[in-house]
Amino acid sequence: MSQQFDVLVIGGGPGGYVAAIRAAQLGFKTACVDEFKNAEGKASLGGTCLNVGCIPSKALLESSENWERIEHKFAAHGITVEGAKFDVSKMLERKQSIVNKLTTGVAFLLKKNKIASLFGHGKLLGREGEQWQVEVSLDGQTEVVSATHVIIATGSVPRQLPDLPFDNKVVLDNVGALSIPAVPGKLGVIGAGVIGLEMGSVWKRLGSDVTILEAAPGFLLAADEAVAKEAQKSFIRDLGLKISTSIKITSAKASADNVAVEWTDSEGKPQSETFDKLIVSIGRVPNTWNLAADSVGLKLDQRGFIEVDEDCRTALPNLWAVGDVVRGPMLAHKASEEGVAVAERIAGQKPHIDFNTVPWVIYTSPELAWVGKTEQQLKAEGVEYRKGQFPFSPNGRALGLGETTGFVKMLADAKTDRILGVHIVGPFASELITEAVVAMEFGASSEDIARIVHAHPSLSEAMHEAALGVDKRGLHS
Ligand code: FAD
Ligand code: NAI
Repeated sequence: MSQQFDVLVIGGGPGGYVAAIRAAQLGFKTACVDEFKNAEGKASLGGTCLNVGCIPSKALLESSENWERIEHKFAAHGITVEGAKFDVSKMLERKQSIVNKLTTGVAFLLKKNKIASLFGHGKLLGREGEQWQVEVSLDGQTEVVSATHVIIATGSVPRQLPDLPFDNKVVLDNVGALSIPAVPGKLGVIGAGVIGLEMGSVWKRLGSDVTILEAAPGFLLAADEAVAKEAQKSFIRDLGLKISTSIKITSAKASADNVAVEWTDSEGKPQSETFDKLIVSIGRVPNTWNLAADSVGLKLDQRGFIEVDEDCRTALPNLWAVGDVVRGPMLAHKASEEGVAVAERIAGQKPHIDFNTVPWVIYTSPELAWVGKTEQQLKAEGVEYRKGQFPFSPNGRALGLGETTGFVKMLADAKTDRILGVHIVGPFASELITEAVVAMEFGASSEDIARIVHAHPSLSEAMHEAALGVDKRGLHS
């Protein structure tokens, strides 16, 4: 007799495990199937995000930033550190211990919520009566389980360059980029997106000569133009990243020790370089491999994403999909919110996610964070808006921190004053953006923010001043 569940989740990342917890909270008999194996070949819940994404990257960003502070920032505070050294293996150990803490924490949470945790690959077999049949296989052993509802949360995998497969020795995906055992002399990065910039920053701070090659005709085209420009200037001037846009890779050949890359630059001139390691971060593709989507009639779009409606429903009964495997931004918090919402919909509730207020953060130095529309989007849509912008350079807290690069920009509807977008480049942008997300979620106007008391001295005063600036009554500009 096969195990039977009310809700079975395939994938234990931030979309899947959170969906499972919410389903269990709502009283459903729930299981979560996940196949991720860590470097020791053991099950490790939490998906890409906890194992080889959000969490380990932030751990290494912090370690490398500490080194950067010692090398370039402490002197201004009158602090001299003699004989300072760093140990990459210790940094990697620290990173892994944070990952282990969180992934075992997820296993604990599943247990606490009485969720069956099934280790193995989940594959849809089809429906028998009202029940979905799912095969769970691990190392040749298979089990078939049945469930009334199935939530697919199988995430995404890195896209590779044609003819340059990842070997995670010299050609690295996110897994390899997060575990380089020693600082590479020359590091190439293909793609100046989020991973390229975050991982490029880590290894540049630790001493690599980092070259980032970007195919798009500009830098971070999804971000507000002024924010992207300020960040690019700082990455090149202060950090020393070499960033080229409008390039075209013409050849990339890996050997045991290095990768020879040829490309044409923005003027069409041929360029070449041999890198000790090459991170390929040119986007990720939905992970629908071996899910048996075809055989059960599950529709994928042209790019391989599972087709769902606004509520994450597929066209098949009681089959749902959330997170990186469906449309929308590939972000952990978006995946989790979708997971929660699906569990609640299964319970007959009517949750709502406002996709217009999903924040974006890039954890470089300076950090970038934004929510809502960019200025270029508002212009393209013909929306009339007013703008307030305030730099961190005269902000007392930023001066104390020694982190004065950047600004906060607020965009508000010209007629209603409703906030349409907030864009930050600068210190702790990742934390500051939450005020804007809350404000936008509550339909606030710039005047609302302008009239809220902000602590002094704090970085949030730059948000306050940007709001005052919308009405041209900034007090410090
Ligand atoms: P995943 O986290 O990918 O989880 C899917 C899980 O399903 C995996 O464990 C996988 O092994 C398992 N699985 C797949 N197929 C099957 C199957 N058939 N059977 C069983 N199990 C299966 N996002 C942020 O919001 N903030 C960040 O700072 C951030 N940093 C990132 C840094 C890096 C280097 C990377 C690569 C990504 C980062 N992301 C970040 C993106 C974030 O990791 C993803 O958006 C998020 O993990 C998506 O969650 P998910 O649950 O959809 O999928
Ligand atoms: P990305 O989509 O952010 O960036 C990929 C970049 O590669 C783009 O700028 C693209 O123009 C460029 N590119 C594509 N093909 C190319 C080619 N052949 N040659 C040169 N450049 C090329 O994707 P990335 O960095 O791989 O990250 C994947 C996703 O993971 C992100 O979109 C994001 O959703 C998520 N992520 C989020 C983070 C965060 O929230 N802080 C951190 C890291 C990843």
